[in-house]
This record gives sequence, C-alpha cells and structure tokens, in this order.
Amino acid sequence: MASLSEGLRSFSTVIVTGGSSGIGKSFIKLMQSVHPTLRFCNLSRRNPTFDTNNIRLRHIATDLAQPAEIRRAVAEVLAWLKSDPPTGKVLLINNSGFGGYGRFPDPELGHQLEMIDLNVRALVELTGHLMPTLRQHGGAIINVASTAAFQPTPWMAVYGATKAFVLHWSLALNQELKGTGVRALAVCPGPTATEFFKRAGLQQGSVSDHLSMSSDAVVLASLEALVAGRTQVVTGWKNWLGAVLITKLPKPMAAWMAAKALAHFRFKKVVR
Ligand SMILES: NC(=O)c1ccc[n+]([C@@H]2O[C@H](COP(=O)([O-])OP(=O)(O)OC[C@H]3O[C@@H](n4cnc5c(N)ncnc54)[C@H](OP(=O)(O)O)[C@@H]3O)[C@@H](O)[C@H]2O)c1
Repeated sequence: MASLSEGLRSFSTVIVTGGSSGIGKSFIKLMQSVHPTLRFCNLSRRNPTFDTNNIRLRHIATDLAQPAEIRRAVAEVLAWLKSDPPTGKVLLINNSGFGGYGRFPDPELGHQLEMIDLNVRALVELTGHLMPTLRQHGGAIINVASTAAFQPTPWMAVYGATKAFVLHWSLALNQELKGTGVRALAVCPGPTATEFFKRAGLQQGSVSDHLSMSSDAVVLASLEALVAGRTQVVTGWKNWLGAVLITKLPKPMAAWMAAKALAHFRFKKVVR
C-alpha cells in the first residue's frame, strides 16, 4: 500500500463514472483510504450508497446512456472544475457500463443501443471534453474494458464488441498522448462479483466462485498497474492466461469456442 499511496500522491482530483456500485465504488473507497485528501466527482444514476461522510465526494446524478444527458453531465463537471480548479493531477476513470445476454437483438434493440451509448459514446465524449483539463494539470485515464474484449462474445455480441472498442481505443489513445503528461490504462477484468450479472439478465453466481474476483481485488490490481505506468492490465492470473490463450486462436475459432462457453447460460442461468 505504501507504494500505491506514493504513486497516487501527485493526484488531487478523480472523476469516475459508475461509482455507485461494484468496481467504481471500490475505486473510490480504496483510493480514499490510501490518499484521504483526494476529491472525487462521481457520475451515475444512483447516489453512492456507502458512508461518504469522510470522503470529498461530489455526485452528479446522470444517465450516461442518453446522449443529451452526457452533454449535461460534461457541462456540470467542467463547471465544477472551473469553480474549484485541481491542485494536482487529474484521474478520469471511465467505468460505467453494462452487458446484456441473449440472441441479438434480444432483449431488445433499444437496450443494445443504450449499451453502445454508455459503454462507448459516453467514454469517448467525456474523455474528449476533459482532455484540455487533463493536459493542463497532467494526469491519467483508466478505461474499464473486460476480458470480453479479447474475442467475439456470442450471446453477448454487442457487449463484447463495445469492450473490444474500449481496449483498442485506450491503447491507441495512449500512444497519441505520449509527451503530453497524460496517459491511458485499459483495465480488463474477468468475472467480478458485482451487480453486473444481474443487470445483464443472469443470476448472481452465474460464474463459479473460483473463477470470479472481488471488485476490491480488481481495483487494487488496476491501481498497481497505474502507478507502475502500464497501459493494459488483465486482472487475475487465470484471466490473464485465458486472454493470452484465446488471442492465439484465429478469430472465427475463438468465436466458436466462446459461443459454446456462453451458450450454457442460455438454458441454465437466464433470469428473464
Ligand atoms: N462484473 C464483471 O464481471 C465485469 C467484468 C469485466 C468488465 N466489467 C466492467 O466493469 C464496469 C463496472 O461494472 P461492475 O462490474 O462494477 O457492475 P455494476 O455493479 O453493475 O456497476 C455498474 C456501474 O455503472 C453505472 N451505470 C450503469 N448504467 C449507467 C447509466 N445509464 N448511466 C450512468 N452510469 C451507469 C452504475 O451506476 P447506476 O446504476 O447508479 O447508474 C454502476 O455504478 C463495467 O464497465 C463493466 O462492463 C465488469
């Protein structure tokens, strides 16, 4: 933890999406515990539910799956930064996201389009509007992708494609940012015990316990990767090994294998 607190010391401000639960919530709690003077701005529909009394937290209630709402939220974040400018580096954590299980376009096309707006559009728009602030103060961007980014994901086809976008965009962006004082880290968690599976239409525990990680463990690995200056982290060695192996296969074969692996949820695990 000492090196983590040392590595985060130059940051003063964290803007995070989806801090109301799961991985986003763990980001706020862990960072606050190692660097208590950090201030946070959270963007999500719900208020963070944990005890925020000792945390310098500004919550902006917003539905980032609605393009008009993204613009309104961006304007609010920029006004907040103008009224109280950062005293150190700025960290943007693009974390909000959801998945959906079914044969495309199930559960419905509108749901798939909202997924693209949240998982892709909101992340690009927020990053674009905050880039001048990031460059002015220096900082970093954490983009939460997924191990779903490494192969096509039949039955969650749009979700996997959005995460492939996040991973590739983040790595390319990091190259473009060289020399600017800003860098990007793509975080690729595997199955993580959060509200994600329920929201995707699956039962909690769809993935067996020995294959899933806690959100705290995912965040610790992510922050260690950030302070180590890495550009991509697959959290957990089993997920890392899976990603290494699947990327060795031709894409059509990887899609066939993923279809077999994900198809069993269709009959056994779907709540709807
Ligand atoms: N859990 C996993 O197995 C797993 C694996 C790989 C990657 N990931 C990725 O990790 C990220 C965080 O997910 P999680 O696992 O922590 O799941 P989670 O507990 O469901 O958290 C998702 C967060 O996204 C926010 N969000 C959802 N819809 C939103 C909207 N329309 N506008 C604004 N915020 C919205 C939620 O806040 P509100 O509901 O309050 O709006 C919530 O805070 C996602 O990008 C997900 O794709 C998860």
